[in-house]
Amino acid sequence: MNDKQLVALQAAKYVQDGMLVGLGTGSTANYFIDELARRQREEGLKVTTVASSTISAQKAQSLQLPIVALEHISGIDLYVDGADEISPDKTLLKGRGSDLVKEKLLAKAAQQFIAVADESKLVDYIGQNFVIPIEVIPFAWQLTKRSLEALGGTGDLRPNAAKDGYWITSHGNYVLDMKFDPSLDAKSLNDLLSNTPGVVEHGIFYSLVDAVFIAANGDVDERWA
Ligand code: A5P
Repeated sequence: MNDKQLVALQAAKYVQDGMLVGLGTGSTANYFIDELARRQREEGLKVTTVASSTISAQKAQSLQLPIVALEHISGIDLYVDGADEISPDKTLLKGRGSDLVKEKLLAKAAQQFIAVADESKLVDYIGQNFVIPIEVIPFAWQLTKRSLEALGGTGDLRPNAAKDGYWITSHGNYVLDMKFDPSLDAKSLNDLLSNTPGVVEHGIFYSLVDAVFIAANGDVDERWA
């Protein structure tokens, strides 16, 4: 069993009968979805799920997990998702897959949010390994980019896979992939980005997790906030 699978299985132990569970997106979250389906099949676990992306919704559906749409919920019990970076103060960087709008809504709506990752995701500061994805309303992208540049940001619209146009998110928006001065702390950057007109959502998940579970060399370290 690899570390991503191990940490996902550990988080799945926190799922109890009757819970409404948020499903994340990515390879680690996929192992969590698989484990929920296994527990439903083999242990008779009774849960309802809500997905952070179309791909996770389809996976849950194909595994016969009961699923509800985000617009029909007012809160969830538990959200388990991966991350692209995790800093020492448990800030996450997410959204490489451009599903950060639903991911952040579920993170905020959850009674408990557990981030699951292997140790390759640990960083000293947010933005160390990846650019910060910032989802913007298409008609505002130039004005928003200029506002972000005034904050010291550098970067551009994310290209599409064929590199002949721009990446469109699940919600029909563009993504600005930006870098900022590493001396800007996560809280300040989070606040600045959230307060920039034209920004729909961004990938900094500040003060949202209840725990990060980190797997390394076959062991899981549960770090509760
Ligand atoms: C999806 O938008 C991201 O936030 C993912 O949670 C992230 O990319 C983690 O992916 P892996 O679990 O595949 O590393």
